[in-house]
Amino acid sequence: MIKFENVTKVYAETNTKALNDFSLEIETGEFVFIVGSSGAGKSTLLKLMMREEVPTSGAISINGYDLNSMKKKEIPFFRRTMGIVFQDFRLIPSMNVYDNIAYAMRVIGSRENAIRKRVPYLLGLVGLNSKARSKPNQLSGGEQQRVALARALANNASMIIADEPTGNVDPKMSYEIVDLLNHINSDGTTVIMVTHDLHLVKTFNHRVITIKNGCIESDYPDASHIDVEPYKFESIEESVGTYFLEESGEDLSYLVENYAVDVEVEETSAEENTKEVKAE
Ligand SMILES: Nc1ncnc2c1ncn2[C@@H]1O[C@H](COP(=O)(O)OP(=O)(O)OP(=O)(O)O)[C@@H](O)[C@H]1O
Ligand SMILES: [Mg+2]
Repeated sequence: MIKFENVTKVYAETNTKALNDFSLEIETGEFVFIVGSSGAGKSTLLKLMMREEVPTSGAISINGYDLNSMKKKEIPFFRRTMGIVFQDFRLIPSMNVYDNIAYAMRVIGSRENAIRKRVPYLLGLVGLNSKARSKPNQLSGGEQQRVALARALANNASMIIADEPTGNVDPKMSYEIVDLLNHINSDGTTVIMVTHDLHLVKTFNHRVITIKNGCIESDYPDASHIDVEPYKFESIEESVGTYFLEESGEDLSYLVENYAVDVEVEETSAEENTKEVKAE
């Protein structure tokens, strides 16, 4: 569970109050859309959730962790419970697509043979099999975004936090990406997604929290109050993977059915694996 109690966040350097006495609860297994205009405080909310920023006042607890009293050395372990899609992607420029995704698994100590199975599978899921050897600067914005998504899905995290994961792709691919997240959510994973796309919010009809000037303007259990048309793609009934199917000519729906491929984790090898990556 995620709990924010009277959280205020002021960015000291610019004296900007990004969140103002903000309280919120999200249960495990929910799918929540966060909407609101640019500068409203959405990314700040997500950065506080992932302990990338700390509140100026107020308390945050997530899955039993008290984020205020969390020690620095606990932070990486806490973050490993989350799959994060950053608004600015944050891919590692020197690594190709394959290694960017593999790296997320290497740092938690996954075995190379598990990585060799899992990464191609994730690339298929986001329709990027043919780009495995490309570096981030050789990809379009939408392709980079899908690498970031694949990386966030790599470790079967119990919570996915995604900051505009569809900000750089066309409507049909946006639909496919959220359809994928929806599938993952239906297996019990909590999904928190910031978006400006109200058509998506309408289509998937989950809880919608609107943020305005650092406060919750509204919090509805579904999208019935949103007055836009949902997306209507022909494939809407059985959509997962159909966009990528068109792109690649393969049937990728089986990938989604088998989403929860277990990641094999070795007890002590995380540090060694990280060194290995650096040495490469
Ligand atoms: N590191 C920072 N230092 C100073 N001010 C910041 C910082 N990050 C964000 N802000 C300010 O805090 C406010 C909220 O920013 P935030 O990034 O949370 O907005 P947002 O809702 O995610 O907007 P967008 O939809 O454009 O991504 C804005 O006024 C922004 O300028
Ligand atoms: Mg933002």
